[in-house]
Amino acid sequence: MATFTLPKNSTIGTGKTYKAEAGATNVRSFKIYRWDPDTGENPRMDTYEIDLDKCGPMVLDALIKIKNEVDTTLTFRRSCREGICGSCSMNIDGLNTLACLKPIEDVHGEVRINPLPHMPVVKDLVPDLGQIYAQLTSIQPWLKADTAPPPDSERLQSKEERAKLDGLWECILCFCCTTSCPSYWWNGDRYLGPAVLLQAYRWIADSRDEYTGERLDQLQDPFRLYRCHTIMNCARTCPKGLNPAEAIGHIKTLLVERDR
Ligand code: SF4
Ligand code: SF4
Ligand code: FES
Repeated sequence: MATFTLPKNSTIGTGKTYKAEAGATNVRSFKIYRWDPDTGENPRMDTYEIDLDKCGPMVLDALIKIKNEVDTTLTFRRSCREGICGSCSMNIDGLNTLACLKPIEDVHGEVRINPLPHMPVVKDLVPDLGQIYAQLTSIQPWLKADTAPPPDSERLQSKEERAKLDGLWECILCFCCTTSCPSYWWNGDRYLGPAVLLQAYRWIADSRDEYTGERLDQLQDPFRLYRCHTIMNCARTCPKGLNPAEAIGHIKTLLVERDR
């Protein structure tokens, strides 16, 4: 029988509060999800009061300040600090986004920060993305061609062929979309989710790739592709302004046209 209560060890408790330094006048509270598998304790929300006059403008600046100056145990991923690497994706103020692109001033009041939803947590704000990366590998996201490239040049495309990749190549694999997708929450073990399907379409749409048929064969499956119900959370949350739902729609259209 289904249980609708959370197991005891997943209840989130109230954590510690780290007060702002005396004399700070521009203080903002950051309430951050904390969980350390090594302690055996339940997750908790710690509160850090930060003087915004001594902090950079983005949420990632505040996280780095907390780690450097207040609490070195806080764990999160980041690398580029400019929206390119996709590492700092997390749920800020209820929306999946990149901490390095999210201005603190866009959040009213307390800044609540959680890991990307519906993923196992490794520690604090770091989700386990192993399943999504295995799914990404399954669609073979690289150019596949049996024909040898020209001996004296790269494989060329016309401007029109290249333009078909716009809105696809910009994806930085942050997985904000996949972890906001209700279909992925319920069927993530079999549904590929918006990020991986956008990547699949990126190679299907590439004029230089010679495996379009095989790629479509692999996606013709009630779960891998057809769990998308056009709920559109993916397009709403993408910090790069991409539209995975549209890419998924193109794959479905190609399958219908092929089977006509
Ligand atoms: S449009 Fe499809 S992929 Fe995007 S959130 Fe909805 S169900 Fe998920
Ligand atoms: S489509 Fe957008 S939200 Fe999804 S992985 Fe790519 S960049 Fe991130
Ligand atoms: S740190 Fe690279 S995208 Fe935010």
